[in-house]
Amino acid sequence: MKTTKHALLVALVLCVAGSAASAWPTDRTFGPYLQNPTSTSMVVCWVTATAGPSTVTYGASPALGSTVTSAAPVKEHQVALTGLTPATTYYYSVSGAGFTGSGTFKTAVLGATPFSFVAMGETHTEDAVGGFAEEVLAASPQLIVDASDQVDSGSSRDEWDRYFTIGGAFYPHVPVLNAVGNHTYLFSNGYPLPGSMGTAEFKRIMNNPGNEEWYSVRSGNTQFIALNSTWYFENPSRIFKQQKDWLKSTLAAATDGVDDPTYKVVFMHIPTWSSGPLYREALERLAMRKYFMPLFETYHVNLVIAAHDKLNEHSLKSGVHYAQIATGELGHPVETPNPNSLFVEPAKRAILVVDVAGGAMTCKFVSSEGLVLHSWSIPASAP
Ligand SMILES: [Fe+2]
Repeated sequence: MKTTKHALLVALVLCVAGSAASAWPTDRTFGPYLQNPTSTSMVVCWVTATAGPSTVTYGASPALGSTVTSAAPVKEHQVALTGLTPATTYYYSVSGAGFTGSGTFKTAVLGATPFSFVAMGETHTEDAVGGFAEEVLAASPQLIVDASDQVDSGSSRDEWDRYFTIGGAFYPHVPVLNAVGNHTYLFSNGYPLPGSMGTAEFKRIMNNPGNEEWYSVRSGNTQFIALNSTWYFENPSRIFKQQKDWLKSTLAAATDGVDDPTYKVVFMHIPTWSSGPLYREALERLAMRKYFMPLFETYHVNLVIAAHDKLNEHSLKSGVHYAQIATGELGHPVETPNPNSLFVEPAKRAILVVDVAGGAMTCKFVSSEGLVLHSWSIPASAP
């Protein structure tokens, strides 16, 4: 029976989900942070405990000069700055509902101008993520890609407060593209919320384009594609039919000869290939291999970034590179035979630093001590 199967599945998933939420003192006031970056726009965000207006003052020098104001009383302040100059550093300050803050950002480069980005995963509001501040800022990244799980319980605003506070050294300066993960769906008691209800708080906090779960952002010569890989808390036809159709048309448009990106980078939470725990194999990875991997291969996606198994791994299959990242939580065993694995590091936290140039992307797993644990190069087109 369908219902019984689903109940069993949810029970199993609960067993394998990460630790339940901890309690932290929080004021549910945090930011600023940056969303939805393009070469000519940026969305400046902050969250306040009580509703109020929003003001952002900004400019290409510390003197600022331009102001955008919204009188509407909100707790989730999301102010779009438009008409910006590409590849330019901007300074900004925010105020509203009793909150003040400031930061800087750089708009995306155009064309083939080299740039860098950083990828994270499995941060889970671990304090250790703050230990990567120096490494993140040293990379001068154009953006951060977060393959989730960002927090333990995605419906808890306290945890999003914690997430942006721990990364307070870099989120006011580097826009972050967030993927949905299994913990996005968890209520603060650790139980899943059904279907799209589970992503409601994620969507209030984030300002991703499209439906905010699967979306595409072009940055320089690279197209970043976010996917929602958490099918087991979802309506599978939504994930595997609607999303797959969207992915296929997005990848087709990226390879139709009209303004095509040089590189295509997919990020999603569940890995296709992993040396992680055996018990995850049937439920999770196989679905990703069946529904998404053929499209990655057909359309020559260069790099797929994932997380979930709490280890760092680089795999290569049919010309597609897979990077699995653990920046916060660690600790799952290496026990699944992965014939495509080129590197696996289960004992050290890492971020992925990617330098994008015309001829190749260079990827490095970097520890919080600044050590390069593993590096490789990805050519512009598949072999
Ligand atoms: Fe996960």
